[in-house]
Amino acid sequence: MRILIKNGTVVRSTGRKQADVLIQDGKIAKIAPDIEAEADRVIDAAGCFIFAGFIDTHTHFDLDLGVTVTADDFETGTKAAVVGGTTTVLDFATQDHGMTMHDALTLWHKKAEKSSCNYGFHMAVSEWNDARKVEVDDMFRAGISSFKMYMVYDAMKVTDGQIYDAQKFIGARGGVIGVHCENYDVLQARIAEEKAKGHMDPTAHPVTRPQAVEAEGVARLMRIAELSGYPAWVVHLSTADGLEEVRRARKRGVEVYAETCPQYITLDVSQYAEPDGAKYVMSPPLREARDRAAILDGMKKRDIDFVGTDHCSFTMAQKALGKDDFSKIPNGGAGVQNRAELVYTYAVKTGAITPEQMALLLSERAARLFGMFPKKGVLRVGSDADIVIFDPNDPHTISWKTNLHACDNSPYEGVEVAGRTRDVLLNGELVVENGKLIKPYCGQYVFRKPCEWYRK
Ligand code: URP
Ligand code: ZN
Ligand code: ZN
Repeated sequence: MRILIKNGTVVRSTGRKQADVLIQDGKIAKIAPDIEAEADRVIDAAGCFIFAGFIDTHTHFDLDLGVTVTADDFETGTKAAVVGGTTTVLDFATQDHGMTMHDALTLWHKKAEKSSCNYGFHMAVSEWNDARKVEVDDMFRAGISSFKMYMVYDAMKVTDGQIYDAQKFIGARGGVIGVHCENYDVLQARIAEEKAKGHMDPTAHPVTRPQAVEAEGVARLMRIAELSGYPAWVVHLSTADGLEEVRRARKRGVEVYAETCPQYITLDVSQYAEPDGAKYVMSPPLREARDRAAILDGMKKRDIDFVGTDHCSFTMAQKALGKDDFSKIPNGGAGVQNRAELVYTYAVKTGAITPEQMALLLSERAARLFGMFPKKGVLRVGSDADIVIFDPNDPHTISWKTNLHACDNSPYEGVEVAGRTRDVLLNGELVVENGKLIKPYCGQYVFRKPCEWYRK
């Protein structure tokens, strides 16, 4: 099978040029101006950018919180992902209390069987002890080189000492741990304070988790990494203060990888006061203008490494579990379909970053850190033909009604974006054409190598 993409602008982190792309047997065979070759299919990409398929570093599909399960499973979530230009998701396989990592991995492979984009797993661990440690080498043998730990959530929270020990143990094997950084004790105290005042609606959520709650967690993680001597990955960074802690740590020689999400460059804390404010309840919460400006500045100055969505969707009926108590609203929102168009509109179109930086933030750096480079994350001869044809001039309005998420709300409802993913090639096959998923269920498991420490 040969596909030829003609007349587009090939965007790589190193530059942009008019070139054609020839795909053969699932791989990129040639990138050059004016390729004349026999092909089974020719795609005209005039006026469009051609990117390496986007990688979403942070999704929660089919996540069971105990009280409820996320609205999107892999079937619906990956359909939405690929239509939005994401050709690989890294989802959090979750080792709940009483489970082994092997159990979690088997379960996540089963959950992911009906995937429409490629997928890999980070292993989120709720326990760190000798029984879990002996499983780690098997995880690497199974293609998992990244893990996650939480400073918060009763079901998942680990101690600072466990993060320290896990950084050393996993770091020595070439793996990285993403950490959800917030100060658990302080935010519990603030939840109690707001409830004591009778402040029970969604506007209380950001009051309990202000910027300093995140910045303290980030600063602590930075010091833990300094002490362990191994790299750290800050997940879903949302604040100017948190970013400052990352920058300060780097000046001290700490190797830090920082992820942010589209909600932290687009949405505003005032939105909790809307009638459906519960749909914005996620952690970290939505922030203020100064935070959005700082995160965009971090993207521009390359202090932010990549953008994941933290897609964790719940319907309004599920959000109503907390209708009388904000602290019971399931945390998370839908976004896996909208990442590229949001980053393009809010970061590229505004001039904060270039299309080349978009390639870096949505694809290349994730592929490097998470052991997929150069198979994924780059337009290069021999790389997997996961390719996005992105039309920068296709304005439209985001709505849950047109998103493929299995969710009756969107934090981005009514947001106007300037462009959209037009076509997607996955493993060399055209799976999305003119914004429509024409070939579902073609996703493959991505076996990952140890991390590439590109910040060393
Ligand atoms: O609110 C969020 N982000 N829910 C998903 C779990 C997490 O914290 O990443
Ligand atoms: Zn988190
Ligand atoms: Zn998350």
